[in-house]
Amino acid sequence: MTTMMLEKRAELAQSESTSLQLDGSVRRAATRSPLIKLEGLTKIYTEGGVDRTVLDALDREFYAGEFVCLLGKSGSGKSTLLNLISGIDAPSRGDVVIYDGPNAVRLTALNEQERTLFRRRHIGIIFQFFNLIPTLTVLENVTLPLELNGQARDARSRAQMLLDRVGLGNRLNTFPDKLSGGEQQRVAIARALAHDPLLILADEPTGNLDEDTGDTVLTLLLELTRDAGKTLFMATHAPEVARLADRVLHLDHGKLVSDQAWRATHEIGD
Ligand SMILES: Nc1ncnc2c1ncn2[C@@H]1O[C@H](COP(=O)(O)OP(=O)(O)OP(=O)(O)O)[C@@H](O)[C@H]1O
Ligand SMILES: [Mg+2]
Repeated sequence: MTTMMLEKRAELAQSESTSLQLDGSVRRAATRSPLIKLEGLTKIYTEGGVDRTVLDALDREFYAGEFVCLLGKSGSGKSTLLNLISGIDAPSRGDVVIYDGPNAVRLTALNEQERTLFRRRHIGIIFQFFNLIPTLTVLENVTLPLELNGQARDARSRAQMLLDRVGLGNRLNTFPDKLSGGEQQRVAIARALAHDPLLILADEPTGNLDEDTGDTVLTLLLELTRDAGKTLFMATHAPEVARLADRVLHLDHGKLVSDQAWRATHEIGD
């Protein structure tokens, strides 16, 4: 990533809220305030009567426009943390607070249905195995989040704009099983951005792709989230991805053992 791109990211990280417009331009307000706050976030699983603390009282803030990369061994709790931030799962103790403009939304204050509605409206998720709906076309997969949110009016034009951006504007009526893995993940990226969410969560988005395809998908994901000024929180096994991130977190034995601003370490390291 070039210095200019990093500077652009840093500038976007100053912004409080941003939204990607239909013409591809970005509207944003300025002043730095957290977008996500982890407060004593704890997840304990009980197996055979024995407690296992997977996430141990995490306190952390993340800001609008940041690209946060989450590293850690298999089983260290990366997916668990993403699932708590998205509200797919509920913590054992502590909370996740998401700031929707001036409103602080405490996820534990919502019931499961309210969390689902919140997620649908404000979060875009990209999974390792794409998770497209096989009975829907490419276009329908991308318009679905908008329709579920009652935003059907602009759905088609917005989906078309995003699918053009990921290079699949000519495959609108194709079904997912006719697409390559990389193409499916590009549709999933368009779907994750369709409803202009506050936050994009990606759980090993290149984990099921070969290296070249993974690079292409990653570049596209970074470009699109950066251009839209979105916060991207990505779990990955790939240390080279961390080189592109604004912040790198390491999970180990339930704790965040490091939280580095890559730019600072890079400048010092050079
Ligand atoms: N529903 C569950 N019940 C009991 N233990 C669970 C459950 N879900 C996850 N775990 C345990 O929590 C730990 C963290 O799992 P998690 O899936 O978050 O790890 P991860 O860092 O995403 O790993 P990977 O890199 O392999 O995807 C693991 O030890 C796992 O066995
Ligand atoms: Mg995982």
